[in-house]
Amino acid sequence: MSAVQVEGKRFTLHGDSSSYSFYVSEHGDLIHSHFGGASHSDPSPAPVIPDGGWLQGNSTAYGRAQREFPDNGNGDFGLPAVRVRHGAGTTVTRFLYDSHQVVEGKKGLEGLPATFGDGKSATTLLITLKDKVARLTATLSYAVFPAHNAFVRSFKIYNGSDQDVVVEAAASFSVDLGHAAEGRDMLQLSGEWAREAQIITRRVQSGFQGFQSLTGFSSHLHNPFLGLVSPHTTETTGDAYGFSLVYTGSFSASVERNATGIDRVLIGMNPLQLDWTVSPGKSFTSPEAVAVYSDKGLGQMSRHFHRLYRDHLSKSSWTHKDRPVLINNWEATYFDFDEEKIYNIAEKASEIGCSLAVLDDGWFGTKYPRNSDSAGLGDWKVNENKLRGGLDALVQRIGKLKNDRGESIKFGLWVEPEHVNPASELFEAHPEWTLHAGANGQEYPRVQQRNQYILDLSQVAVQDHLIKVIGDILSLTAISYVKWDCNKAMEQLPTPSVGHAYILGLYRVVDTLTTRFPDILWEGCASGGGRFDPGLLQYWPGSWTSDCTDPVDRLHIQTGTSLVYPPSSMSGHVSASPNHQTGRETPLAFRAHVAMLCGSFGLELDPNHFSAQEKKDIPGLIHLSERISPYIIQGDLYRLARPEQTNWPAFLYLKPDGSGVLLAYQIHNKINTSSPAIRLQGLEPGRTYKVDGVEYKEDTLLSAGLRFPWKGDYQSKVVFIDRV
Ligand code: DGJ
Repeated sequence: MSAVQVEGKRFTLHGDSSSYSFYVSEHGDLIHSHFGGASHSDPSPAPVIPDGGWLQGNSTAYGRAQREFPDNGNGDFGLPAVRVRHGAGTTVTRFLYDSHQVVEGKKGLEGLPATFGDGKSATTLLITLKDKVARLTATLSYAVFPAHNAFVRSFKIYNGSDQDVVVEAAASFSVDLGHAAEGRDMLQLSGEWAREAQIITRRVQSGFQGFQSLTGFSSHLHNPFLGLVSPHTTETTGDAYGFSLVYTGSFSASVERNATGIDRVLIGMNPLQLDWTVSPGKSFTSPEAVAVYSDKGLGQMSRHFHRLYRDHLSKSSWTHKDRPVLINNWEATYFDFDEEKIYNIAEKASEIGCSLAVLDDGWFGTKYPRNSDSAGLGDWKVNENKLRGGLDALVQRIGKLKNDRGESIKFGLWVEPEHVNPASELFEAHPEWTLHAGANGQEYPRVQQRNQYILDLSQVAVQDHLIKVIGDILSLTAISYVKWDCNKAMEQLPTPSVGHAYILGLYRVVDTLTTRFPDILWEGCASGGGRFDPGLLQYWPGSWTSDCTDPVDRLHIQTGTSLVYPPSSMSGHVSASPNHQTGRETPLAFRAHVAMLCGSFGLELDPNHFSAQEKKDIPGLIHLSERISPYIIQGDLYRLARPEQTNWPAFLYLKPDGSGVLLAYQIHNKINTSSPAIRLQGLEPGRTYKVDGVEYKEDTLLSAGLRFPWKGDYQSKVVFIDRV
């Protein structure tokens, strides 16, 4: 059976264990009828609440319906998915069904990141709606990836009138979920710098609840993800819906419960920063959003996202490959280094088994040397007072080093192309390239953060400049890895829509460079996880998860991030103890075992300061990380116990061949407390598994679980689960 079922004007998209249905009403409106578990016949229609008559109140028939693409006006008093200003300022639209088309596969979107799939993995349903008064066409694109129970939507507004129109709101996904007797809880991933992706849950109440980013980027504050679960949903049981926006700019996500108990979910660009003019004959395309459904709790919801994003979003040649173990000098030296120090770190790192040396911030700037965060940003010329002989000489020298497997050491470089210090040659030459606002010939005071301004990537000249300067560095020097940082939000947008134009410009720059240098391992970073979003995941295989390298805090940050993003896309580094951000002291093995939960493992340490014990232990930990890597890169993640729920968090990764690795932790020592059993998940029924030399039946591992004798604070274990 096709994944898209069309009967007259009734449409159902089928996932392997989920369905999404809507139909065209007698008036031509799109009405939603089901999103949830599999449903192969027409859902019983929602009882129509009569309008008028003895029923009084504000809700009209429109407001009582589950609307598939809520527009503005006509008596629906909820937030619209689309709002367009047209004619003499009218914002009422009425989009009615015109036609539909089913297309095999799922195409990308022009200029925007998007999921993709061939006819075997995805089917697309295109629905065309028309507003004959405003002379606008809305084409809704729904794609279903059945194996991932994922439904992807975006839409295009075409202006068929003879005047400009302005798009003021564009929620990529909107769904009116029917009244749930037991209620619903809403989940979000919120935080700040060094405390990203904390899982926050709240009960959905009557009225509006939501969160947003106005930073111009997806941000540290809130991730562009909204979860909706039943009150008793766990990691393994219950309904779990996830909505994830494939976009890097400001966004808004909300649930609005109306008077009749319908929950309207919206996720899309932030309307406060959208005011997009569409000329006659032109169109506007919204970013796309992905909705997944799981009837087996949050764990399965995450695995749907992970597989979809690995196989049908990320375009990097590295996505399915093990990443090199790296050493990064940031926490070892900060800005205080020269070529000898960097070479020395790389040399010592090669001796203990690293294969990539990354040079972080501070290597550039000649007139304004980058010796602190107050100067040089924007001037991508090597500072030869610091790196005598130049960058290429250092890269070549490091390239002659070999690690313990005889591999040459590769070189990685940090850049922050989108920003500029006022103390820079670039700013002196092009002050007009920075984002700032003013009126009547006067400027508002410019807002600095970390002593920097943000370049205006909505300008093609700025985009071209970045493509040239970064492209030149990468063509002239043997760089194998690029860490692309971004340490400032867009505090001062001259007009609401410049933020979106910037993001489109950023995608152009990043797409051009990643296409030109496909073998480079690109890593996103925005003061840590400030742009950990599906948009940039299209071009880069992953992102630095957080500037917080403390392993206890990292357990929380990485767990939250894993709700949506594949662990293969996260980076984790072993840093010093006491930790530079929290001051906490933790054992080396614990720090390493937490970093190993991520697809990209590395050290952020100065090997010159290793103790004798560390020198002895680190090579073994590096080899262990390499052994674990295929489980993280290719495997499925099972969050057996989450750190915000227990003192004994545990995570299992199962490879496609059925073998697994368990990483388990005790955060604090507990006197006179027995540690709970760790019950595994996802094993093949009836099979036998070998754990630490002992054979267990699958049901024993699932039911009775494994127990470990823990002793002390910050303890950890890595256990391989081999299928016999
Ligand atoms: C913020 C990043 O997240 C850090 O890892 C480091 O690269 C600094 N910027 C450098 O300025």
